Amino acid sequence: MKKLQIADGIHMLTMNVEDILFEGIWEIVNGVTLNSYLVQGEKTAIIDGVIGWDGVPETLYKNLEEIGVDPQNIDYLIVNHMEPDHSGWISSFRKIKDDFTVICTDRAAKMVSSFYGGDNVRIVKEGDTLDLGKGKVLSFHPVPNVHWPDTMYTYERDTKTLFSCDMFGSFGRMGDHCFDDELTPEEIDFFESEGIRYYSNVMATFTSSVKKAIEKAKRLEINIIAPGHGPVYRKNPQKIIDDYSRFALYAEGAGKDEVTILWGSMYGMTAKAVDYVEGILKRERVKYNKLKMPLVSDSEMVASVFKSAGVIIAAPTYEYKLFPPVAAALNELGRKRITGKLAFRFGSYGWSGGAEKELHEIVERNKMNWNFIESVEFEGMPKEEDLTKIEVGILEFIEKMKEKVVK
Ligand code: FEO
Repeated sequence: MKKLQIADGIHMLTMNVEDILFEGIWEIVNGVTLNSYLVQGEKTAIIDGVIGWDGVPETLYKNLEEIGVDPQNIDYLIVNHMEPDHSGWISSFRKIKDDFTVICTDRAAKMVSSFYGGDNVRIVKEGDTLDLGKGKVLSFHPVPNVHWPDTMYTYERDTKTLFSCDMFGSFGRMGDHCFDDELTPEEIDFFESEGIRYYSNVMATFTSSVKKAIEKAKRLEINIIAPGHGPVYRKNPQKIIDDYSRFALYAEGAGKDEVTILWGSMYGMTAKAVDYVEGILKRERVKYNKLKMPLVSDSEMVASVFKSAGVIIAAPTYEYKLFPPVAAALNELGRKRITGKLAFRFGSYGWSGGAEKELHEIVERNKMNWNFIESVEFEGMPKEEDLTKIEVGILEFIEKMKEKVVK
């Protein structure tokens, strides 16, 4: 765990978490940070927890003491969001001190009780404030469904700091550099990529709420954005607001100038057509990410499709339906409400079709509203005329993809 001063009277405690599945689902190959913030006036508030799922380690108290905070003197626990990556420490903290006040939204208050028990909860609404003394005044701004219904922003008026919790967060462990102005170009690229993976894995389902939260942030005068995961933005907080605006567009069908090939093959027949398509993409200088299902994690698959301006689905019929690993991937994309993507499918069948029917059932059931170029199906191994039809489809796909690209 690391401690850093981010402004006068405000400290961040941050730690890297690795070797877990985030939310029990998402592989985080590059880890994630949990950030907590201490705001000190005459009273002291701690915003969100930092120790994850396992209780309060001694290191937390040691770090608090090193920044001049006796845990016994923490007056307020500001719970921006009840997901246990931020709130999991509350019951353990209660064991050493029980005379603090939890500040949270009404939706969070019910969860405080059901997750951790206890009372002494103050429910706040839009614009309510808490004066800590010495000029430190916190105000509270609910942003429901970012990412749970209970979520809120906390804003410190003196330093114009927005504590945004999940909003404006990113996966990715932090090394020595925790502020935007310290990041190297490689680290900026790293957090772009990890930010996309985080948004697509955790936030994409809630894009309509994220867009409202972006507008709410724009109405506040902000010098610093201090999220619950990832770097603090103090030089250019507008950058992460712009990034999130772009990510919201990705969730609704836009993307980078690149393609994801989501494919699977039983005996190499669909694979032969994939090889052919790769040749066309190389010839046409189109960047592509080739994901063979089921060998790729859901985390990587969702992120890749999310950021791509076009999706090529290459999958055969399997027992009258779509090749199951590709069907499962599309269902997951539907659950994540990744809508409006441009797509093109081809694949083989042995004695009957069925893949195409299930593909469209998945897309309709999940209201994905994807735009499909006419599919190409072939019996057994693709013949010359099948490959010609696929090339026509790919060229149409590349042309239409240009309308989806957002820089
Ligand atoms: Fe970082 Fe929704 O918890």
